[in-house]
Amino acid sequence: MKHFISLFDCTRDEVLDLLSLADRLKRERRAGVVHPLLAGKSLGMIFTKSSTRTRVSFETGMYQLGGHALFLSSADIQLGRGETVADTARTLSRYLDAIMIRTYRHEDVLDLARYGSIPVINGLTDLQHPCQVLADLQTVAERKGRLEGLRLAYLGDGNNMANSLLHGCAKVGMDIAVATPAGYACDPGCVEEARSDAAKHGSRVVLTDDPDEAVAGADVVYTDTWVSMGQEQEKAERLAVFEPYRVDVRRMAMAAPDALFLHCLPAYRGYEVDADVIDGPQSVVFDEAENRLHAQKAVLVALLAGA
Ligand code: CP
Ligand code: NVA
Repeated sequence: MKHFISLFDCTRDEVLDLLSLADRLKRERRAGVVHPLLAGKSLGMIFTKSSTRTRVSFETGMYQLGGHALFLSSADIQLGRGETVADTARTLSRYLDAIMIRTYRHEDVLDLARYGSIPVINGLTDLQHPCQVLADLQTVAERKGRLEGLRLAYLGDGNNMANSLLHGCAKVGMDIAVATPAGYACDPGCVEEARSDAAKHGSRVVLTDDPDEAVAGADVVYTDTWVSMGQEQEKAERLAVFEPYRVDVRRMAMAAPDALFLHCLPAYRGYEVDADVIDGPQSVVFDEAENRLHAQKAVLVALLAGA
């Protein structure tokens, strides 16, 4: 693995290896074992969007691995004043060992990798959120004891989360059903990539506009905000369109009796999910949030240890 930009770019074995490394790092941390695998290494973290989980988990993750992380807000670095991505990449490659970036255009992340000479990690773009899905897979595996053969239902916006869940589920042999309203479907390129992986592993990719159909019998029910970062102007229209896609107690009851509820967070109770569900016994959203730390430490170690 040279970069971690899209789960589709990883092999199935690379994803499974990252998940088992994440589990090991989680157990070691709980046992008080110190693992300074990245002593002396520095991670630059470029943010052009807000973040709680991504920023804090990457920064503390680097610290726990013996390294160091720099928060580079676009409000402060020259990128925000028009310096090109290419020049930023070439410059930062002279100081840092890796760059994590959260931004709007997926192409900017690809350019950072193209023009720089160090590993690039995608901390969310408008198109994808692979770090989140790695943590989601870790969370499902630790609760269910397996991934292959399970079925995940995603309800709501065909956004970055939905695109990366398509990639992640197809990569590990999970079935995925995505229910989105007309006009808010997943990215066709990501759907195509997921279908090609699903065909290899004998799993299914179902796209529908019917949330009840998607959720019926599912082992995992997943949703995300109806208004992603950058879409604030569309808020009123989106809240109306997505209303029928809310995960409420009635809909959760249509999934398997032991189904898990997942959400990447931040969540908006009463919109994409009711409080009874996200704060109820089937919800594992804070395990998911914790696993961002362990899963991303695995990514950092895979990219940087011994490099
Ligand atoms: N789930 C997630 O990426 O959270 P943040 O936006 O807080 O980083
Ligand atoms: N779809 C959301 C995910 C936030 C972690 C967004 O892009 O804002």
